[in-house]
Amino acid sequence: MAEERFVEHTRDGDIHILRIANPPVNTLRTGVRAGLQEGIAAALREGARAIVLIGDGRMFSAGAEMTEFNKPRQPPSLPEVFDAIETSKVPVVAAIHGSALGGGLELALACHARVAAPTAQVGLPEVKRGFVPGAGGTQRLPRLIGGEAALKIIVPGEPVPAAEALRLGIIDAVLEGPLEGAAVAWARENAGRSFTLARKREDRIKGADLAAFDALAASLLKRSRGQESPKGCAAAVRAALTHSFEDGLNVERETFQKLVAGEQSLALRHIFFGEREASRIPGMPADTQPLPVKKAVVIGAGTMGGGIAMCFANFGIPVTVVEQNAEALERGLKKCEANWERTVKSGRLSAEDYAKRRAMLSGTTDWNAVAEADLVIEAVFEEMGVKKEVFAKLDKLARPGVVLASNTSTLDIDQIASATQRPELVLGMHFFSPANVMRLLEIVRGSATSHEAIATAMDVGKRIGKVNVVVGNCDGFVGNRMTGKRFPQMERLLLEGALPQDIDRAMEAYGMAMGPCATGDLAGLDIGAAVRKARGQVAPIADAIVAAGRYGQKTGKGWYVYDEKRQRHPDPEVERIILETAEKMQVRRRKIEDAEILERLLLPMVNEGARILEEGIAVRAVDIDVIFTSGFGWPAWRGGPMFWADRMGLKAVRDKLAHYAEVTGDPNLKPAALIETLADQGGSFAAMGAKRAA
Ligand code: NAI
Repeated sequence: MAEERFVEHTRDGDIHILRIANPPVNTLRTGVRAGLQEGIAAALREGARAIVLIGDGRMFSAGAEMTEFNKPRQPPSLPEVFDAIETSKVPVVAAIHGSALGGGLELALACHARVAAPTAQVGLPEVKRGFVPGAGGTQRLPRLIGGEAALKIIVPGEPVPAAEALRLGIIDAVLEGPLEGAAVAWARENAGRSFTLARKREDRIKGADLAAFDALAASLLKRSRGQESPKGCAAAVRAALTHSFEDGLNVERETFQKLVAGEQSLALRHIFFGEREASRIPGMPADTQPLPVKKAVVIGAGTMGGGIAMCFANFGIPVTVVEQNAEALERGLKKCEANWERTVKSGRLSAEDYAKRRAMLSGTTDWNAVAEADLVIEAVFEEMGVKKEVFAKLDKLARPGVVLASNTSTLDIDQIASATQRPELVLGMHFFSPANVMRLLEIVRGSATSHEAIATAMDVGKRIGKVNVVVGNCDGFVGNRMTGKRFPQMERLLLEGALPQDIDRAMEAYGMAMGPCATGDLAGLDIGAAVRKARGQVAPIADAIVAAGRYGQKTGKGWYVYDEKRQRHPDPEVERIILETAEKMQVRRRKIEDAEILERLLLPMVNEGARILEEGIAVRAVDIDVIFTSGFGWPAWRGGPMFWADRMGLKAVRDKLAHYAEVTGDPNLKPAALIETLADQGGSFAAMGAKRAA
């Protein structure tokens, strides 16, 4: 069957218009590429004076169709389409609105000229999917704007707004008014001009200062420890400065092919699609509408309440924090201000935008403010009694129909909901610290929570820039429940031979933003100790550390000792405590390899993740991975814990779990039933279907 075409060809006098119509984001699937190639040929046959390429709907084009990556490629390839453009006798003008990203921008770069709407943005985000631009982006962009400017765009992969793109020379004009008409007029006016194709330009790369380029590359690459694609991007851009266009394209192509087939790109694409997948909630009727939220109220202006309020203010949603007394309120608001001021000082926020954000935030000790809320988020002390009291009060004060959310990190949402007359509108909105920075939002569904309430939380989460994952109601929900399970192995590893710095080194070498010991010091070791005590659990080493007054960063020492700059250093006292405890317990210490440390800390999490899937607490395995990459400093290029397990193979995972369960006597490591089943069937977490978050 002939492949369908997704390009519309219209004419405005002798200016021909090719409109890419592959909703929603105009990816350059086969039918688009073929349509463009044929459209250009037809326009030339019909005597066009100029050709305008434009996108239908939301944007110009979001780039290549990544789902085609795993299939045999159908002709024409993008370079073949570009060839048709570059050999055209009449100018081809890309008219960009919305976004031109990845292959979308590469298409535009192959054109004779580029014009854009003022709100458009362009970029090459390939690095974030684990590869490099693969259709000439690394060769044409430096020829247009210079090597260093191109490096600053391609290595971080962040989009560039139209005005900046114009200043740099990526685009030729920013056009006001409806874009198609303006672009046609521009093309008509400029059709007689002689354009130099990007591939032919030499002026911006000739005599480039390679030492300066390399220094810039080194400083940009510092931010992406362990990740391959930024290095590939830098090398490909460098080739534009040292090679001919054709040879540079070959360097780019080889780098692309190597990276796209690699493990890191697989992981990054798994997370990219996973974040989108996570917004699909099984069982939610398609016509579910979120309730409108124009104003939010946050209860409690502590660590979390303040950060949550900032999220709303940052995205232009008016928010009021309610505190129990004037001092706590002032302290909370001051902290928000100090946070914003730091961002202004670092140059990442203008004074004007700070003023706008600050104006969105207000505070009060008067609970009547709750009556104005379209959404209430509670972030008071983590105690069921307090939460219930607060929710009973909120239920009376909030308008009927308003969603009441709790930021609790462990407590039972159903019990909290039982304090109200509207359990269907009660749910968890679990932010992660610092709430204004971390992208993850666990949306916790209680047994009575309605679809509408979930849709409302998801809509709000999206508006404030969060990655939403809907989870079921259980102790610790998904992320904290899983990380909690690695603790017994951490204690065992310390006893058997590792030191805190060994554990953190192994985890950080894997790519984690921070190892578990350093993380514990940041959160406060006394908190975990209190939880253990309440549960009647003992951890001889961790308990001895806390008993020595080492609560973590807040006391200047914990697993480490901290200097005035809050830099951590290994502490001989910790080693002494560990050695003494091991001796007392008659454990013979040995050298433990990093690979063993990694396995013993990740396997218990995977095992718990499997139980979470069995119970339907998480809808699908990739949701768990998204939780870790957006809320727990797990690098996206590693793909998350369930991805890690799938890549190892569930049979190996089962065998290793069983082995460690036996040698360490940790009952928690007994392979979960789901792992047993999948291992027997040769299955994987990724291949399982979605379940409702219970
Ligand atoms: P916090 O102690 O910093 O702040 C709690 C604030 O609530 C205090 O300012 C307090 O004055 C206020 N408050 C207490 N009772 C109140 C009442 N009846 N009315 C109005 N205000 C009241 O605590 P934090 O860390 O902000 O935690 C708040 C909630 O967020 C807890 O449920 C916690 O489990 C959860 N959470 C904490 C995270 C963290 O990393 N700290 C992460 C995610 C959730």
